[in-house]
Amino acid sequence: MSGSFPEGFRYLPEYFSRAQQQILIEHVSIAAKAAPFFRGKMPRTGTPLSTLGSNFGPLGWVAAQSGYRYCKTHPKTGKSWPNMPEELLNLWQEVSDWLDPPQACLINWYREGAKLGLHVDADEEAADAPVVSVSLGDQALYRLGGPARKDPTRSFKLSSGDVCILGGASRRCFHGIDRIYPGTSTLVPKGGRINLTLRVVRGVL
Ligand code: SIN
Ligand code: FE2
Repeated sequence: MSGSFPEGFRYLPEYFSRAQQQILIEHVSIAAKAAPFFRGKMPRTGTPLSTLGSNFGPLGWVAAQSGYRYCKTHPKTGKSWPNMPEELLNLWQEVSDWLDPPQACLINWYREGAKLGLHVDADEEAADAPVVSVSLGDQALYRLGGPARKDPTRSFKLSSGDVCILGGASRRCFHGIDRIYPGTSTLVPKGGRINLTLRVVRGVL
């Protein structure tokens, strides 16, 4: 598919400067000490995901064989997730057009060979609140479709510092990461790509 994005989708290339990206990565590194990256599993099959995950914020998204869910604590340490960095709360204010602050920021780490199948973000009661996502580190090939899995898709590269917003109708569009391009960025100390996904989960915690 060529041409325009679905209604409500916004792509903000190079939103963050290199210096700002370094601050965000520093937050991720500190968070990963308290809330170590873990490998989630697909519901039912238990197939391990190819990405590693952790979270910032009062709620964290966890992928387990028993299902996808939002949890107040890390599945291994049992502790609360690290606080949402101020820079991400500011980003939300700047781009989301949504009054309530995000409750969860999923930190996904894509190392060489990692990808994310076509899916819709559908685990949130706040189904109309936008999803704001930040790309850091290696470039990735992003695929964006429509509300039905069979809808045509378009693909484009996301680079470090880029921000995408799935708002409006695009909130229910299929999307995924086909591949990353290893070694295309020096930002992430251990290499790879970090994606930060900000979401409102529900009305009252
Ligand atoms: C996601 O859709 O959950 C993440 C997308 C990305 O890694 O850019
Ligand atoms: Fe998603």
